[in-house]
Amino acid sequence: MVKLAIITLPDPILREVSAPVERVDADLRRLVEDMLETMYAAPGVGLAAVQVGVPRRLLVLDAAEEGEERRPVALINPEIVMVGEEQRVYEEGCLSIPDVRVEIERPGSLRVRYIDIEGRPQEIAAEGLLATVIQHEIDHLEGRLIIDFLSRLKRDIIVRKFRKQAKGAAVA
Ligand code: NI
Repeated sequence: MVKLAIITLPDPILREVSAPVERVDADLRRLVEDMLETMYAAPGVGLAAVQVGVPRRLLVLDAAEEGEERRPVALINPEIVMVGEEQRVYEEGCLSIPDVRVEIERPGSLRVRYIDIEGRPQEIAAEGLLATVIQHEIDHLEGRLIIDFLSRLKRDIIVRKFRKQAKGAAVA
């Protein structure tokens, strides 16, 4: 397994809409393994393929509580088919936007359809943290980020800060 580099703001690839995965093969399974390794090392609870430079509709996550056994999941071509009425507010972070947290209200439960790592169609119900993480990661597949839930002013301040940091890194 290889730890991959996580792409951060303001890299424009984060704004791309990811294309569907066409084949579940050994290469894809290797990418899933590497993404899980990268996510656990970060550490994070979810990671979309676009965050490691692969704009395909694939994400990994593990919503197990601290102290619980790991529960790695890979969702290929995920599609939310139903959301519950109740909303859940959670302060979300993003591995592509270090040190920024945004309070976001989203549906607290959902059903998602996807292809698993064996290439089989699956559908699961999710609630709580799992529902939040799935929605956060599917947003990545649409090029949507947590800062998009902020006012334009706040979003611009954050983007400008990351742009400055990126410039600094280039000459360092
Ligand atoms: Ni994220």
